[in-house]
Amino acid sequence: MKDDKKRLTTASGRPYHENEDSMSAGPRGPVLIQDSFLFEKLAHFNRERIPERVVHAKGTGAFGKFTVTNDITKYTCASLFSRVGNECRVFIRFSTVGGEKGSADTERDPRGFAVKFYTDEGNWDLVGNNTPVFFIKDAKKFPDFIHTQKRDPHTNLKSPTMMWDFWSLNPESLHQIMILFSDRGTPDGYRHMNGYGSHTFSMYNEKGERVWVKFHFKTQQGNKTLSAAQAEDLRGKDPDYAQRDLVNAIRKGDYPKWTLNIQVMTDEQAKKFRWNPFDVTKVWSHSEYPLIEVGVMELNEIPVNYFADVEQAAFAPSNVVRGIGLSPDKMLQGRLFAYPDAHRYRLGANYEQIPVNRPIVPVHNHERDGYMSVNGNGGDAPNYYPNSYDGIEADPKYKSPGMDLHSDWADFYDRNENDDDHYTQPGQLFRKVMTDRERKATISNFAGSMAGIEGPKRDEIIQRQLGHFYKVDKELATEIAKKLNFNFKP
Ligand code: HEM
Repeated sequence: MKDDKKRLTTASGRPYHENEDSMSAGPRGPVLIQDSFLFEKLAHFNRERIPERVVHAKGTGAFGKFTVTNDITKYTCASLFSRVGNECRVFIRFSTVGGEKGSADTERDPRGFAVKFYTDEGNWDLVGNNTPVFFIKDAKKFPDFIHTQKRDPHTNLKSPTMMWDFWSLNPESLHQIMILFSDRGTPDGYRHMNGYGSHTFSMYNEKGERVWVKFHFKTQQGNKTLSAAQAEDLRGKDPDYAQRDLVNAIRKGDYPKWTLNIQVMTDEQAKKFRWNPFDVTKVWSHSEYPLIEVGVMELNEIPVNYFADVEQAAFAPSNVVRGIGLSPDKMLQGRLFAYPDAHRYRLGANYEQIPVNRPIVPVHNHERDGYMSVNGNGGDAPNYYPNSYDGIEADPKYKSPGMDLHSDWADFYDRNENDDDHYTQPGQLFRKVMTDRERKATISNFAGSMAGIEGPKRDEIIQRQLGHFYKVDKELATEIAKKLNFNFKP
């Protein structure tokens, strides 16, 4: 063989003499079972698919770097933010939510915006979306809600009836659907949209003082959206539109960038906030809680192998690092369980050993064995604690400060008079933030989707949903009713 050629081998490394013509009993005879490479190829092929993500199945990933541009050490003791100019490698996965792995990139849907920061104190995952709010505020509703975004169990078709039945019975979804049915529900690729941590998180400093925090990635490419007609056209012409756009930009060296900002709320402010500050269906006004710049994220590398890095990527809101903390947000709390559980099912117990998920710092603990332990499995070190040998000690410096949850607070956050105010913020969005053109598009997009509601409960569902819209904005409800030719009774 010439020097520049590589010898074909089986998976076990044995050079194999042939790659196209199965071994047979004589030139025309049946195939021999001793052609082990044939069976290895067929068997491996049969096992190529792993379960797709139950949500966010269609996605695109890229590596890049994050650079700290502003001193926020008064809020956080995270080592990443210890000095302006600190850099860290990141991996991001963008996605749509409801569609299957092969679905179109321009579907009307939120977009996933999941970032893994490989910091020198472990991985920090900010698993957000391109919207600052979400459809529901309690994790208990998530499986029900997602079922309505998937296929009807009988027809196996997407069903506007299921979606609007659920939304009309859950008016807390109004804020998110106002965004979803504006043209922001069909962003022009992944480079031209913002990303949000959405939930209220927290940060704490060296003194253990905690503030509540929201994260905002602002696109430096400018926000761009598609009209409903453009998005529909692209669904057929180029289902991989957003992936293509990202790959092409990075290949050309036109690296997309986002500025990371935080909003900060103190305990005192949280107590006086008009709504529950831990309700993911609400935003914090930017004039009261201004954006504070934190850093810049640049994406500059498409993974060499899609399956290795993008399909096997595992993000988890529970991956926080010292200086960055959680909050009592019920959705966030539910997500702390859901993601690592999903990864164990989708990728196996040792998913953190897969290179894209592996931290850049050494891992020291006594977890051992399980399928696909590929990092040496702790070698000959003890697999129990305490022990007299390995010197692994828990460092109390990494304990996060407790949250102040005395009964006043618990009651306050549990229920307050504005908890069922699902209408004020969507109304402000519709009247004050949207332009005339955006309002028109939103009304038309709502009507387009609601026109698909069918069956014996059609009128009941439409009437109920229009009733919610009416509380958001009268014109919004009456204009949609007109377009639907529906006799709405406010
Ligand atoms: C993916 C559950 C709410 C953003 C996932 C996955 C699950 C899940 C099971 C698949 C994980 C995998 O197989 O790798 C939940 C539950 C929620 C919830 C139970 C509510 C309690 C949210 C919210 C956001 C969000 C509020 C955004 C603010 C994402 C993103 C992904 C994802 C971006 C894709 C991550 C990736 O690219 O691998 N979610 N989710 N989810 N979720 Fe959620």
